[in-house]
Amino acid sequence: MNIQWYPGHMTKTRRQIEADLKNVDMVAEIIDARIPVASRNPDIDAIVGSKPRLIVLNRADQADPAGNRAWRAWFQDRGYTVLETDAKTGAGVSQFSITIKEALKDQIARWREKGQVGRIVRVMVVGIPNVGKSTFINKVAKRKSAKAGDKPGVTRGKQWVAVDAGLDLLDTPGILWPKFEDERIGLNLAFTGAVKDEVMDAETLACHLMETLAERYPDALQERYKLELPPVSGQLEGLAYGYDLLERAARKRGFLISGGEPDTERMAKILLDEFRGGKLGRFTLELPESV
Ligand code: G4P
Repeated sequence: MNIQWYPGHMTKTRRQIEADLKNVDMVAEIIDARIPVASRNPDIDAIVGSKPRLIVLNRADQADPAGNRAWRAWFQDRGYTVLETDAKTGAGVSQFSITIKEALKDQIARWREKGQVGRIVRVMVVGIPNVGKSTFINKVAKRKSAKAGDKPGVTRGKQWVAVDAGLDLLDTPGILWPKFEDERIGLNLAFTGAVKDEVMDAETLACHLMETLAERYPDALQERYKLELPPVSGQLEGLAYGYDLLERAARKRGFLISGGEPDTERMAKILLDEFRGGKLGRFTLELPESV
């Protein structure tokens, strides 16, 4: 699902989450491991408060392994439990229940002392669109559709989903939004396809992506498009550097329009598709240092 902006919904979603928090023991916040800053709702810490939190670094398969390690350490240093997953294949997902129960072991022991043996642990799942929340919930609950109620006996109540005999999930009602005001955050969401491409034309977005990759992952760019990266100095005005790279890549691919000019529009779409499809490699576009 792509993001569209409906401001009124955020207040409603926030109120609903705040009300539902009373019914859960932990919050699992799913984020996109490629963009761990941009893929978080800016108010999530204030909304969730002191409730124990699991950060699910989803799309870990698409992110740079060094980036995953750095972010895991960063979140753990701040008291969060962290799980790396690839919800598409299910890698890491089997650790979800064990990880939750380990994180809540003191709480579970207290329940037991009070005679609440076998009390079901309840976890709320939150995440902005496109982090892979539905895929994750389906995988963790071993079901095919994200719609609650599709499989009789599996769901308990409206948005509750049973993971195993001791763990229930509550899917967030409504939609949590990222922070749109910051240009870099908007770009990172657009690069990964979280924001509809109509928000910015593909060519401009691809120029930004070329510049971002040339700075962060020059080897991947050189290898994929057989580019000699020209020196950056003096070329950074108004995306000129990114446009130059787009033209070079289009020429290398033989994408030309009449008159022999490079077909930068076609190249832009290819770059975005290949980046999103993982053909260029694994990338982490935000590092903990940038927080
Ligand atoms: P959302 O609920 O958070 O909005 O996201 P959703 O689960 O719908 O996932 C969006 C897309 O991302 C889906 O691809 C899904 O398969 C893919 N995806 C989710 N998690 C991961 C992950 O950890 N790794 C990878 N590589 N992909 C992931 P799609 O193209 O919409 O569908 P499909 O082609 O997979 O069927």
